[in-house]
Amino acid sequence: MTGQKDFSDTPVTDLDRAAAEEELGRLAALLAKANEDYHTRDAPELTDADYDALKRRNTRIEERFPDLKRADSPSDQVGAAPAEGFEKVTHSQRMMSLGNAFEDAEIADFDARIRRYLNLGPEDDLAYTAEPKIDGLSLSLRYEGGRLIRAATRGDGTTGENVTANARTISDIPEKLTGAPEVLEVRGEVYMSHADFAALNEGQEARGGKTFANPRNAAAGSLRQLDPAITRARPLKFFAYGWGELSEPLSASQRGALARLAELGFSTNPLTRRCAGPEEMLAQYREIEERRATLGYDIDGVVYKVDDLGLQGRLGFRSTTPRWALAHKFPAELAWTRLEKIEIQVGRTGALSPVARLTPVTVGGVVVSNATLHNEDYIAGRDATGAPIRGGRDIREGDWVQVYRAGDVIPKIADVDLDKRPAEAAPYDFPTVCPRCGSEAIREEGDAVRRCSGGLICPAQAVERLKHFVSRAAFDIEGLGAKQVEQFHTDGWIAEPADIFALPERYGAGMQQLKNREGWGEKSAQKLFDAIREKQRIPLNRLIFALGIRHVGEVAAADLARHYLSWGALVEALDTARPAERRHRAAEAAVTAERRAAAEEGRRAEITRTREAVWAEPPEVPQPARAAWEDLVGIDGIGATLAVSLVSAFAQTEERASIDRLAAYLEVEEAQRPATEGSPVAGKTVVFTGTLEKMTRAEAKARAEALGAKVSGSVSGKTDILVAGPGAGSKEKKARELEVEILDEDGWLSLIGPA
Ligand code: IVH
Repeated sequence: MTGQKDFSDTPVTDLDRAAAEEELGRLAALLAKANEDYHTRDAPELTDADYDALKRRNTRIEERFPDLKRADSPSDQVGAAPAEGFEKVTHSQRMMSLGNAFEDAEIADFDARIRRYLNLGPEDDLAYTAEPKIDGLSLSLRYEGGRLIRAATRGDGTTGENVTANARTISDIPEKLTGAPEVLEVRGEVYMSHADFAALNEGQEARGGKTFANPRNAAAGSLRQLDPAITRARPLKFFAYGWGELSEPLSASQRGALARLAELGFSTNPLTRRCAGPEEMLAQYREIEERRATLGYDIDGVVYKVDDLGLQGRLGFRSTTPRWALAHKFPAELAWTRLEKIEIQVGRTGALSPVARLTPVTVGGVVVSNATLHNEDYIAGRDATGAPIRGGRDIREGDWVQVYRAGDVIPKIADVDLDKRPAEAAPYDFPTVCPRCGSEAIREEGDAVRRCSGGLICPAQAVERLKHFVSRAAFDIEGLGAKQVEQFHTDGWIAEPADIFALPERYGAGMQQLKNREGWGEKSAQKLFDAIREKQRIPLNRLIFALGIRHVGEVAAADLARHYLSWGALVEALDTARPAERRHRAAEAAVTAERRAAAEEGRRAEITRTREAVWAEPPEVPQPARAAWEDLVGIDGIGATLAVSLVSAFAQTEERASIDRLAAYLEVEEAQRPATEGSPVAGKTVVFTGTLEKMTRAEAKARAEALGAKVSGSVSGKTDILVAGPGAGSKEKKARELEVEILDEDGWLSLIGPA
């Protein structure tokens, strides 16, 4: 304190000029600090109510003494959040994640998959690198002319946060490079060593500060500090393992490129080895696993990468992961504990998911108190085909169970100890009605899961759909998380996604309703409404994912967005495909019924009513419907099950009305085809037929799509190019009739140029 009198308890009406001036200064400082705590440190110390009270007091003093109003008056900062968080950065090349493997056998599969894709025989050489998978957070460093100009976190892979000032404080990250390509993006992992982590937590504890659960969290928390001075004081390290944009190649091989990065001054992991094939990869995995405990930093597996960068280029990427790399995770850690209770959760698609409530136990450094039990068969000790699992041992309330965690996945139950089973423990009776809405819970043939049939009338399904809608990979509305969604839903404010966007209008005027409720103040309400409005503009893939349609995950949503590009085109295609989708289901049902009848009669499963026969039945499926359907199921990664789910969701009256109400609030950003500047086939529709000799069909398709072409399975009036290899038949004939350009494989390759 300054030694001057403290007027904080003096009623506004009793303040004289001097006291008022003093008090306005105190309030300005307090509110500025509160703003900083709230917006930039994510650590508010005042409740919203206290904050509002201080702000009101400030306003009332200013009203009494208008000429004392300060230049930095808090009342001029209403709702205007101070520059918040980090600036967003769009990565020049997406930051990918990795496919995972847990079993040794999956490594041979990985190798076989790559050989198939590249059309390599078992005798052809195919080398890999194997290196530790560092458990930290990824960072992309951009150098131009040898100078570090930007460092960005991964974020959602497309956009991350600009943490340049913080990255400059990390001693493993060079500020200047000599002899580097003009443009060089180095990618790697920021991490904290065990020793530094322990020392940091000790220091934090001594100062009464926040301690971190593990080195990864400590590294993330330290890198994402708005004050670089704090980051500087935290001992972060960096391993380079890859790159993004380059103005010239670093090398012809992964190993060579790493060596080059090391020459330029980056730390690369010393346990990186070149392996001639799966056998050596597994040997290196064991070696790394053995040394894991003595490395002094956390790793959670081994990453394998195809060594030849030319082959990496040919293999390319699936939506979010490279085809040429794989993360082989270390096995999960195990622990025994008591299963106290089995509870049933109802998911957004109505699935009844049993969850084990456990006596809390530490597994791999994390306290676990819940585990998934998958479905009723799993509890009963059998798999979907009825074959025993866990030696047929079922799981009961009161049992002693073994819990494990693998990677980031939800904890699971590995085993149960029958010797410790309480005498009174009874087999679990799986409910056949929804525990939330009482509707019948139905298990369809071939489905492992029992589902509530209540649809939108089931409050659990509605809330789960809303939670999914606002989740990180979907609309990601700041300030509207699972907790707020539950609250608003319970209060009848939001029943469906469209209601979220109506909130600011309905409750925005004066924000009275929201502001007066517990946990909400003027600032947080205003912030929420701003966040909601901001998300009215949304990328197409996020919107598709957010709808929460069964089987449509993040990857499929991205595939659909890339294919249809705009919301209008997607909706039109799904509407058009409707009659074909119905016929597809009828055909599948007919074939299944045939099979069942045959099996019952002991006949060999001769199908008399084939899919084709059902398709040919009247009324004829209109050609546009058929084409739209084939186009949909022809998208790489979109199978018939997903297509049925998607088309029928849009066809279902109530569901569709809800989607339309939502879309009316939104401005949907069109998806971008991959960078196709100068591509001769961008925007063209291409069909491949016959045998390809220089590449596999999958590779041909992936390359064409990477160049911005649309690959279709059938020739139609929309086809631009037919690539016909030997043995091409009816498609080639049709293409001739329609006067479509026809190329052989070499013609195609010379058109698109080298990979
Ligand atoms: S390569 C395109 N190598 O693991 C391939 N990633 O699960 C990009 N990671 O986001 C990744 N150590 O943050 C690669 N040696 C390593 C790694 C590694 C850790 C992280 C990285 C990535 C995540 C994917």
